[in-house]
Amino acid sequence: MKGIILAGGAGSRLYPLTLVASKQLQPVYDKPMVYYPLTTLIESGVREFCLISTPHDLPRFRQLFGDGSQWGLRIEYREQAKPEGIAQAFLIAESFIGSDSVTLILGDNIFYGGDSFQKAFAEFTTGATIFGYHVNDPERYGVVEFDSEGKAVSIEEKPKQPKSDYAVPGLYIFDNAVVGITKAMKPSPRGELEITDVNVEYMRRGQLRVGRLNRGFAWLDAGTSSSLHDASAYVQTIEKRQGIKIGCPEEAAFRRGFLTADQFEALIGKIPKCEYRDYLAEVLAETRRKQ
Ligand code: G1P
Repeated sequence: MKGIILAGGAGSRLYPLTLVASKQLQPVYDKPMVYYPLTTLIESGVREFCLISTPHDLPRFRQLFGDGSQWGLRIEYREQAKPEGIAQAFLIAESFIGSDSVTLILGDNIFYGGDSFQKAFAEFTTGATIFGYHVNDPERYGVVEFDSEGKAVSIEEKPKQPKSDYAVPGLYIFDNAVVGITKAMKPSPRGELEITDVNVEYMRRGQLRVGRLNRGFAWLDAGTSSSLHDASAYVQTIEKRQGIKIGCPEEAAFRRGFLTADQFEALIGKIPKCEYRDYLAEVLAETRRKQ
């Protein structure tokens, strides 16, 4: 399973913050926003990534992640020259995807809680898996409607009159057919290759699964100054209360076995003395105590 992180867009709703760094590099409490979606995929066992961003912002992401080997990952980079839709990512990353299945996560989507994603990845074989999450403003999202048996019967992009309160979050899992499906698609009236059109095509083929994320699950969006602040406050609250970090790729890579204890220790040694380093050192010490 290959992983695409889409971190494009102008981030105009966060102006003037985005004059100096792209939206997905803004801090969400104690780390850059893009750490959260990256961690979500690492926790689900994804190890090979393609990060897609604008030509202007891509160098910053390279600086942040390098080739990913320090975390036991492989990270490639591709440019999205113009914001021509989420689904365009499958064309841009075609050579990276090769003959594999692929998951796409949006670089500003923050998820926390439960093991719904891990289970969905473990069970995935063919077709498409997406998710539905109850929100109070479904008109801002892709909206999925279910019939009385819980089967998805329609998906609409930002409908004025939503048929349900279930929004489709920015994490999608597809088999390799996604590349061909996207190639056959036409841009929408707003000039974009819509991810919703991809999902509708899988539904038409009878190959779409929609997992409903339950109440205990958090899906945060950090696209405006206010929601960015809310996301930071949420992360701070959980981290302070529980003494664990959300969105920590080093920890996730270690727990997933992408890094050995010795490699993890060497990595910690390279981090400047700070609270983040102390946290990782404690993760390692605790693991060793249990062995
Ligand atoms: C995009 C998708 C939408 C999805 C949302 C999730 O919207 O088009 O279907 O529900 O991401 O964050 P955008 O955020 O690009 O407006």
